[in-house]
Amino acid sequence: MDKTFVMVKPDGVERGLVGKIVARFEEKGFKIVDAKLTKLDRKLAEVHYEHLNTKPFFGELVDFITSGPVFAMVLEGKDAVQNARSLIGATNPTDASAGTIRGDYATDVASNIIHGSDSDENAAREISLYFH
Ligand code: PPS
Repeated sequence: MDKTFVMVKPDGVERGLVGKIVARFEEKGFKIVDAKLTKLDRKLAEVHYEHLNTKPFFGELVDFITSGPVFAMVLEGKDAVQNARSLIGATNPTDASAGTIRGDYATDVASNIIHGSDSDENAAREISLYFH
């Protein structure tokens, strides 16, 4: 079985959406193999998002992701990365279809509720960053 890394961002935790989001993954057939509520320090945030460190929104992204607790999960299932991203929806909630997590719960790309790894390689990297 494949694994992916998914994280409910501070806006999703603050709005009390963790239970609903976990249920969506479980209903789809994912198995939760590890999970924790944690608060990122700036160093971890900067390493996680280092591929974006030249973007104009990088500082805002690090401020946001460190602003409160996140709920990090390792999910196991067939084609885990792709299936999780399908449930999550497009990065910009304006483009996310109804029925996806971002389509149903978010309106703003800067606070889009949830992160999911975009490749098997990044899933392995992110799992090792958060769960070691
Ligand atoms: S890019 O520019 O295409 O490389 O980036 P993109 O894939 O669209 O987004 C990568 C992550 O950056 C977040 N993001 C933002 N954060 C704050 N402000 C703005 N304007 C912004 N735009 C994009 C976006 O939510 C993505 O987060 P993750 O956690 O990877 O889904």
